[in-house]
Amino acid sequence: MSQSAVLDGAAPPQDLAAVSDSLFRRDMLACLRERPRRISPKYFYDAEGSLLFDRICELPEYYPTRTELGLLTRHATRIAQLIGARAEIVEFGAGSLRKIRLLLDALEAPARYLPIDISGEHLAACAATLRGDYPALEVTPVVADYTRRLLLPAVTGPGRRVGFFPGSTIGNFTPDEALRFLTLAAQTLRGGGLLIGADLVKDPDVLHAAYNDAQGVTAAFNLNLLARANRELGADFDTGRFAHAAFYNAPLQRIEMHLMSLCAQQVRIGDECFDFAEGESMHTENSCKFTIDSLRALARQAGFEPGPVWTDPQRMFSLHWLRAPD
Ligand code: AVJ
Repeated sequence: MSQSAVLDGAAPPQDLAAVSDSLFRRDMLACLRERPRRISPKYFYDAEGSLLFDRICELPEYYPTRTELGLLTRHATRIAQLIGARAEIVEFGAGSLRKIRLLLDALEAPARYLPIDISGEHLAACAATLRGDYPALEVTPVVADYTRRLLLPAVTGPGRRVGFFPGSTIGNFTPDEALRFLTLAAQTLRGGGLLIGADLVKDPDVLHAAYNDAQGVTAAFNLNLLARANRELGADFDTGRFAHAAFYNAPLQRIEMHLMSLCAQQVRIGDECFDFAEGESMHTENSCKFTIDSLRALARQAGFEPGPVWTDPQRMFSLHWLRAPD
């Protein structure tokens, strides 16, 4: 248990690959059997999908990453004061471990870093690189689905435990799920706090462009879900016969991503066959947008005490410090 820890109860670490394969199989089959068809965006992030997501973050149209990095850079000193010395940082959905570096560089003697991610191989590789760059830091990767209840290893240092949830990944949840996640986080982080990024409601054209980039990287990211099903589940999706569709649902204040069937077709997984009508879609992601007040109200409802908020002059993105009471 020194290198990693897992927790949602079911399986010991060595079975993780098999467990995650069977969960993807179960959820993909459930998606194909139901109408309307929908599946969790967490399945985007196999090794290939994680690389595609890193490319999305560099796109000129995709403002969230750049804007949030700017906020972290500009306000690092103040953020480090709020977090305090020798803290233990838990990152939810840590991805490629890029943003944490800005925080680590500003913090006073951070004691330990626990990046949680569902993409095990990618996490292990990125954790090794991080260890090389921060030899004094204890890095404990946790391969787990942070949308489920987590049993984290006990705090080892004298500092507080602080959560880091950047990128507006909170927007992938439905409002109910977001409340449940934040409520659990407020318990896990008691006595510390949560630094969370939230993308803001804005001009729908700007949002539309961010999820319909000119180079087609977001389309490739979306379609990789079908390629992954072919690779891992032996499905026979013809990825040329599905189209990326992303649009802003204004009443629900969210971007929706779908994979739309371009013709009437059938797809097989094992001995099961699924019909798609022309224009029929699979709903693959919601990316909810917030106002500063809506995020603070949600946090308060979950048991946090909202603290300072940082935003850019154009109010594209927000970064919030939420205190978790004892
Ligand atoms: C990682 C969930 C925050 O919703 O903007 C980017 C994922 N999907 N482009 C987002 C994503 C399409 C991203 N989050």
